[in-house]
Amino acid sequence: MIQFDAVHKRFPNGTTAVHDLSLHMPEGGVTVLVGSSGCGKTTTLRMINRMVDPTSGTIEVGGKDITRQDAAELRRSIGYVIQQSGLFPHRTVLDNIATVPLLLGHGRRRARARAAELLETVGLSADSGRRYPHQLSGGQQQRVGVARALAADPPVLLMDEPFGAVDPVVRTQLQDELLRLQKELSKTIVFVTHDIDEAVRLGDQIAVFRTGGHLVQCASPTELLARPADDFVADFLGAERGLKLLSLKTLADVPQGPAPEGGAWTLVLDEARRPLHWASASDGAEVPVRPLRDADSLLSALNESVAAPTGLVARVDADGVLTGVTSRDDVHTHAGRAHTEARVAA
Ligand SMILES: Nc1ncnc2c1ncn2[C@@H]1O[C@H](COP(=O)(O)OP(=O)(O)OP(=O)(O)O)[C@@H](O)[C@H]1O
Ligand SMILES: [Mg+2]
Repeated sequence: MIQFDAVHKRFPNGTTAVHDLSLHMPEGGVTVLVGSSGCGKTTTLRMINRMVDPTSGTIEVGGKDITRQDAAELRRSIGYVIQQSGLFPHRTVLDNIATVPLLLGHGRRRARARAAELLETVGLSADSGRRYPHQLSGGQQQRVGVARALAADPPVLLMDEPFGAVDPVVRTQLQDELLRLQKELSKTIVFVTHDIDEAVRLGDQIAVFRTGGHLVQCASPTELLARPADDFVADFLGAERGLKLLSLKTLADVPQGPAPEGGAWTLVLDEARRPLHWASASDGAEVPVRPLRDADSLLSALNESVAAPTGLVARVDADGVLTGVTSRDDVHTHAGRAHTEARVAA
């Protein structure tokens, strides 16, 4: 959908920001750009909507060379979200979101109706529409930024560290929102971040850049984690690369058996057979249990198997009813397989 071919960007002061970049960003997918500061991520993003012109090479959006498209028109077909949300401080939230629909020539009423709809889409209350940006929290402002970028229903969204300025909890919420929205909207998204966990969580593919604007590797999160191209990529992914890989695999294929009875520890259930806690047979001590579902990750299973006194993970269905238990060994065996599976898939 977005295709870079041999793209080079050298600024007039001699800085090479992007070096011979060829990269395909598939339609309806999220491509995440990561890499150390100054490695050309923002420049790459801004070349897509022609805020920066490449020195050489070609960029196509939707199969058309962007230099053959009207720049203003191109920009309207591309939503742009930045870290400092970029909202107009003297306009209400609703008017901020309605800016683009108004520019597109929608009447005032239609533009505002669309803006109100988008407020809801990004999870904000109708009431926040009447406020001014400074009357919202950082996380709420970012949501408004996303709503504004979506206002013209553009097929492409460029997001430059959109969640960089909010605390980890809000950040996770915003990521969840984006994943939910993306399921519904299937935009072609190019997302820049410094946070490798965010990249792994959001990306269908991750492109790792090195200083000087060199693309080192572009692969799915699983492939990247299992087979980093070199030490630079491995270092960038961090010491917990293996655990991150486990966060991408689910428990679904790991076998389960009946919960043990009459041993040192018993899994206590309520009347509906939902796990309550582990109870010790010798002194009645209780240890909390965190039951897991098929969709939970191998990482949380490993964690729970270490935390549980029996080394067993309690498995439940969608209603929280016990379906069985899985041993630490089974989790471990499957954890080891995550790597081989990634190799086969690659
Ligand atoms: N307008 C400009 N003129 C000259 N050099 C520039 C210009 N814009 C960016 N650069 C340089 O190009 C390189 C890449 O910058 P860019 O903003 O694309 O990096 P980045 O990967 O987005 O960094 P960060 O993670 O810090 O946001 C840097 O060395 C930067 O100093
Ligand atoms: Mg940047």
